[in-house]
Amino acid sequence: MRKQIVFTTAALLLLAACKSTESGVKGSVTKQEFGKTASGEAVDLYVLKNKNGVEAAITNYGGIIVWLKTADKMGRLANVALGFDKFDRYLTPPPYFGAIIGRYGNRIAKGKFTLDGKEYSLATNDGANTLHGGKQGFDKRVWTAVPNSASGSQSLVLKYTSKDGEEGYPGTLDVTVTYTLSDDDDLSIDYRAKTDKATVLNLTNHTYFNLAGEGQGDILAHKVAINASRFTPVDAGLIPTGELKKVEGTPFDFHNPTAIGERINNDDEQLKLGKGYDHNYVLDRKGAGLEPAASVTEESTGRLLEVWTTEPAVQFYTGNFLDGTLVGASNRAYTKRSGFCLETQHYPDSPNQPAFPTTVLKPGEEYKSTTVWKFRLAGNSAR
Ligand code: GLA
Repeated sequence: MRKQIVFTTAALLLLAACKSTESGVKGSVTKQEFGKTASGEAVDLYVLKNKNGVEAAITNYGGIIVWLKTADKMGRLANVALGFDKFDRYLTPPPYFGAIIGRYGNRIAKGKFTLDGKEYSLATNDGANTLHGGKQGFDKRVWTAVPNSASGSQSLVLKYTSKDGEEGYPGTLDVTVTYTLSDDDDLSIDYRAKTDKATVLNLTNHTYFNLAGEGQGDILAHKVAINASRFTPVDAGLIPTGELKKVEGTPFDFHNPTAIGERINNDDEQLKLGKGYDHNYVLDRKGAGLEPAASVTEESTGRLLEVWTTEPAVQFYTGNFLDGTLVGASNRAYTKRSGFCLETQHYPDSPNQPAFPTTVLKPGEEYKSTTVWKFRLAGNSAR
């Protein structure tokens, strides 16, 4: 019996190896209709596929990643991102599944900030605070999309112009987000923006991952490592207190790969406030370039996700607000902690925290930020 299993595994691995070296297999980008917004605007779905069969399906509504198919250790592809197969499901807004978040990812206290002596009031949508851009953030806007298929990489360029005053933010802001899927199984997200008045900006992507496969239960056994010595503790409204607290000796220390569930229910004030992990980690960075921020492994499938970024921080969120009411693409309910997010970004509420790295963008400057998700197998780190 055991011998037979070993043989089957070896045969599959060989098959997978043959497939990846097969000559003439190329990536592609295809476009299909996905649906219509409430005001009748048509939106499309673009499927970026690389030579290994890895797929990233992205809609120009909110730049949402609808599915992400990656290989397990047997070479089998499965969707590792929470999402829906029908566009209409995105119109009763889910909690930001797969979406581009802007103008300001994460929270701004009381929806207010002062810039160059002027106070701005934002649309509030999370109690008294503003979360993820306000009532109609970038995740609920239709972007223009231009696909591009090149040798070795498939990409989608999304553009959106946010009007001066939209959701209360100053300045007309031109934003470009480019998704690129390479033949090395890297999905990079490149953010660029320019403004005509000083404004604040913090762009990210809110994909919920389950590396065992979307809808395959909770993510508590996934092992996470985060390259951070400090995090920003929060108050009851999940607004940072301003302290940069050391993770050492706390359940927030992910220097060594640790199962998400190992300490999530510890008697810890911050875990209680977040209902689990919902915290901004301050990355230990060497410079300003693309550096490894976090990695996650799922042992049963062998999937490894590495997150690299130019951003100074990452919000680690363990799907604590999912409650089983949303049913995903494979018809399974998204219960509590059935996905995790690693939202690369600046710290929450930076516009009100002068000691945090600035999120101000001025006319004449270009906002530039890149995050890369490297899909690998355990033991094959890209580092
Ligand atoms: C972010 C926040 C969470 C929650 C989710 C969406 O990740 O940090 O508190 O609001 O978005 O449900």
